[in-house]
Amino acid sequence: MLMNRRRRELEKAKRQAMRAAGRFNAELMDFIRPHVQPGITTGRLDELVREYTLDHGHVPACLNYQGFPKSCCTSVNEVICHGIPGPYVLKEGDIVNVDLTTIVQGWHGDQSETFLIGEVSAEARDLVQCAFDCLWAAIDVLKPNCRVADIGAAVVQIAHQRGYSVVRDYVGHGVGRRFHQDPTISHVPTPEGRRQRLAPGVTFTIEPMINAGVCDGVQDARDGWTVRTRDGRLSAQFEHTILMGNEGPEVLTLTRGGPQRGGWIE
Ligand code: MF3
Ligand code: CO
Ligand code: CO
Repeated sequence: MLMNRRRRELEKAKRQAMRAAGRFNAELMDFIRPHVQPGITTGRLDELVREYTLDHGHVPACLNYQGFPKSCCTSVNEVICHGIPGPYVLKEGDIVNVDLTTIVQGWHGDQSETFLIGEVSAEARDLVQCAFDCLWAAIDVLKPNCRVADIGAAVVQIAHQRGYSVVRDYVGHGVGRRFHQDPTISHVPTPEGRRQRLAPGVTFTIEPMINAGVCDGVQDARDGWTVRTRDGRLSAQFEHTILMGNEGPEVLTLTRGGPQRGGWIE
């Protein structure tokens, strides 16, 4: 009895801690959003992310994570994920994914958005919209104890219908005290995902990467991080951290100023 009570208290504290981490991370996204404009370097965005995080007493999770050199990922155009901020100047027509992860009192919040820089091509816009719609379609199928593979099924259905491919080599993940933990959240249905269920209390990300062309990526041999599409075509992504509640999912990284569920990206 006492054991059960203690366990429930710990579980409640964990949920509160993850809500706080998600909330701060979302505020960081709201802070950075107006800076994502033509003419700014991705390196300057990274400095702003680091300063805001440290000023609020928190820790950028990416910095030094497995040797990653910066405080966030900035993935431009054909970069699927893990782009390293640097001297690149964002220009009209680019799309850029900004992926932010913060450690708040030992717990992680993780989210990303793809931004349109000025006027972009209709092709780029449609792809970014698709990545956004895939994320929300996946969130909308979540129910307590649903299968992980339900997520991939929802993503694939929308992406393939619109003629895009879904990245397989990079996945969503459990998130909590650790940045990346179980379960693996594939954005395509897999045998493992059909066996695995999302029980109340689990915290995880959904972060579909959607490509205009082939799904395969190639890692940059020089920096060891940047992953580009093999065919050089565009890639877009959105990510949220989610808590599976007792009644249904809670999206912990919802922002005030960003694109809202069911909405248009701009
Ligand atoms: N934020 C990414 C994710 O969604 C991981 C970035 S790891 C880093 O899982 F080392 F590149 F920062
Ligand atoms: Co992320
Ligand atoms: Co993630």
